Amino acid sequence: MNIVGIIGAMAEEVAILKEKMQDVTVTKKAGMEFYSGILEGKQVVVVMSGIGKVNAALCTQILVDVYKVDAVINTGVAGSLNKDIDIADIVLSTDAIQHDIDTTNFGNKHGEIPRMENSTFVASDELRAAAKRVCAIVNPEIRTFEGRIVSGDQFICSKDKKNWLREYFGAECTEMEGASIAHACYLNNIPFLIIRAISDKADDSAEMAYEEFEHIAIAHTVKLVCGLLQEI
Ligand code: ADE
Repeated sequence: MNIVGIIGAMAEEVAILKEKMQDVTVTKKAGMEFYSGILEGKQVVVVMSGIGKVNAALCTQILVDVYKVDAVINTGVAGSLNKDIDIADIVLSTDAIQHDIDTTNFGNKHGEIPRMENSTFVASDELRAAAKRVCAIVNPEIRTFEGRIVSGDQFICSKDKKNWLREYFGAECTEMEGASIAHACYLNNIPFLIIRAISDKADDSAEMAYEEFEHIAIAHTVKLVCGLLQEI
């Protein structure tokens, strides 16, 4: 992989990565600042996409068209849907679905994109295996999980919705961008990996937990992304 695109939705998810970069050129497009340069010896483009699926998909397409990235890593925080996955733990995507797509009135399943042959976007095995190896070394104090990540334009903070997402999709965590990045990567035939650290449990305590644990969670993703870049 020659050039790796790294997307975080929020400033705090990419701030440390940007600080660590060398030989940086910043270019603005679609309101987003693309930081092109070297990170951990690797050519990367780091960008804050903004929150939500549209921002993230647009951002991915620019990384593909303008920066010709060979792979996309989405890094950030997520709400846990699995009682065994604790705050600060890491989830690596096996695949990703947009949980808020709903054409069930036409007999489709939730998450199914009508008239598209595929709505479940499979992550790169190679990137995930490397990330798993690296995470055990750089973040030994937490656990790393692999599984499905669901995304929607919703901050999930209710037990009922959380339980539904877990039961219906069998997902490990939820956030607001990963599956749309996965979707854009699929359409462009580019490998991707979503790396998310848990900031909250996506239930009634989510907003408070999020505020408290976001920074701890992000510290883990930063260590992992930096370690991973040395391996790929
Ligand atoms: N990102 C972090 N926590 C989240 C949650 N509970 N719902 C959606 N996105 C999130």
